[in-house]
Amino acid sequence: MSRIFSGIKPSGDLTLGNYLGALKNFVALQDEHDCFFCIVDLHAITVAQDRLELRKRTKDIAALYLACGLDPNKATIFIQSEVPGHAQLSWMLECQTYYGELSRMTQFKDKSLKDGTAGLSSGLFTYPVLMASDILLYDTDIVPVGEDQKQHVELTRDIVDRFNNRYGDTFVKPDLFIPKVGARIMDLQDPTKKMSKSEENDKGYILLLDDLNRIKKKIMSAKTDSDNLIKFDKDNKPGISNLLSIYSVITNKSIESLEEFYVGKGYGDFKKDLAEVVVSFIQPIQDRYNEIRNSKELDDILDEGRDLANKLAFKKVKKVEHKIGLGRKRKK
Ligand code: TYM
Repeated sequence: MSRIFSGIKPSGDLTLGNYLGALKNFVALQDEHDCFFCIVDLHAITVAQDRLELRKRTKDIAALYLACGLDPNKATIFIQSEVPGHAQLSWMLECQTYYGELSRMTQFKDKSLKDGTAGLSSGLFTYPVLMASDILLYDTDIVPVGEDQKQHVELTRDIVDRFNNRYGDTFVKPDLFIPKVGARIMDLQDPTKKMSKSEENDKGYILLLDDLNRIKKKIMSAKTDSDNLIKFDKDNKPGISNLLSIYSVITNKSIESLEEFYVGKGYGDFKKDLAEVVVSFIQPIQDRYNEIRNSKELDDILDEGRDLANKLAFKKVKKVEHKIGLGRKRKK
C-alpha cells in the first residue's frame, strides 16, 4: 500500500481553496492508501503568531479534518510540533540544501519582493526544507497538494536524489498529486490571485467556518465580467471560470455539463445556485465540527496519531544520523 503525507498550516482559518485543492483529496485517498495528515504548526511560526490563537487554530484544523471526513481508523492525524523528528531532520537536510535553491522558491521570492528580506525570518527562507522533512520522515510515495506547493515538492525530490547519491539509499522519492480541477481556487474579488486566508479583503475568500449567510453574500458579490455568458475561459473570463471550477469540484459535475445546463441563463441564476450548492455542502461540515471541536475524542485521536508518527519518525532520524555520521557508536 503506498504511503501518503500532506499537511495544512494553522496560520489562518481553512478556506474553501484549502478544502478543494487539498483536504477533499485527503479524504478520497484514505481508503486505498496508508495516510498521514498533519497540522503543520512549525510552519505557521515562520511569521509572527499570537500564541493562544495559534493553539486554538491548530485544534480547529484537526477538528475540521475529521468534520470533512478524515477517519482516524484509516489515517494518522497529528500535530507536527508534537513529533520532534520533523525539526531534527529539517536541520540535517538544511545542511544538504543550497542557498541558491531556496532563493529560487517563488513563495519566498514573492514575499521578499513585497516586504524586502531584512524583516523576514530565516525560518521563512528554510521553510521548504522543513516541508521536505515532513514528507521524507515517513517514506512518503505520494503528496496531495494544491498547485502552489508544487515547487516545494519538486525541491524535496531534488534533495532525495542528492542525499541518496551521497549517502546511499535512504529516502523514498515522492510523487506529486495535484487535482485536475480545483488545484488553484482563485480570490472571489480578484480572480487573478489565489484564494488565501491571508488576504485583507475577506470578501475574496470563503472560510469553512464562515457564517452561512455571509457565504451566500460572498458568492453573490463575486467578481465576474460583463458579458453574462457562463463559459469556462481562464484567461479571458477568470471570474466565472473560478466559480465554475468550485461548482464542478463540489458537485462532481463536469464543467462542460454545467456550461450546457446554464445556456441561456445569466450570472445571477448561476450564482444563486452555486450559493446553495456551497452552503448545503458546508453546513453538515460545520455541524460535525461543532460536535467534535471540544470533545475528548479529538485529543485521543491526536495522541494516538502523535505516538504512531513518533515511532516512524524516530527510526528515520536515527537512520539519517547514522548515515551522516552524527553521534557515536557505543563500546560493547
Ligand atoms: P497551506 O497551509 O498554505 O495550504 C494547505 C493546502 O491547501 C492548498 N491550497 C489551495 N488549493 C487550491 N486553491 C487554493 N486557493 C489553495 N490555497 C491553499 C495548498 O496547496 C496545500 O496543499 N507548505 C504547505 C503545508 C505543508 C505541507 C507539508 C504540504 C507543510 N508540510 C508536507 C504537503 C506536505 C502549506 O503552506 O500549505
